Amino acid sequence: MELNDIALIRRSIRKYDPEKAVSREELESIVRFAQEAPSWKNKQTSRYHIAITPEQVEAVRSCLAGSNQQKTEGVGALIVTTFRHTIVGFDREGNPDNEGGNSWGWYDLGLQNAYLLLKAAELGLDTLVIGIRSAEQLRQTLSIPDSETIGAVIAVGHRAEDAQRPPRKELDEIVKFY
Ligand SMILES: Cc1cc2nc3c(=O)[nH]c(=O)nc-3n(C[C@H](O)[C@H](O)[C@H](O)COP(=O)(O)O)c2cc1C
Repeated sequence: MELNDIALIRRSIRKYDPEKAVSREELESIVRFAQEAPSWKNKQTSRYHIAITPEQVEAVRSCLAGSNQQKTEGVGALIVTTFRHTIVGFDREGNPDNEGGNSWGWYDLGLQNAYLLLKAAELGLDTLVIGIRSAEQLRQTLSIPDSETIGAVIAVGHRAEDAQRPPRKELDEIVKFY
């Protein structure tokens, strides 16, 4: 499949088919692909805590806020994405290299997560990035160390219904050529 087709097939899916499973091999494959993303000084601080058993998936779902619990019903896996903080964007003495500080860790995590979403789409898997969740509950549920900042939860499964492509801004609204 062409990259352009993959980008268009990927949609935020909010209704999943409980009959269709996601395998550990598929999840390993999408994380392995995500690792190909660039990272600050190749530090690779992004981490993935993946709930795959029905019990763990339910436990992570309970950390999602409001309608996100309902939107992830029947999902095959839930990936909690994190990064080891105060490394990327910092020098050896722990001083920030510039005004970005830990934002660079977020940047690297986002880049990897974008690769992950595209690889999932190529494999015929559907995803939903979830930012509205309780980081504290997730930390407790999966015993995520304090050295990691918790980012998104990414639902992975198979769509039970299609989604419309939300409109994108015009190029001249977001680009300035000099
Ligand atoms: C960082 C981030 C957090 C998001 N959080 C949520 C969320 O909590 N719940 C939800 O339903 N969608 C969430 N989304 C999905 C966006 O609403 C969606 O990507 C956007 O509307 C564009 O639609 P598309 O992904 O189909 O292109 C999130 C997306 C991103 C990138």
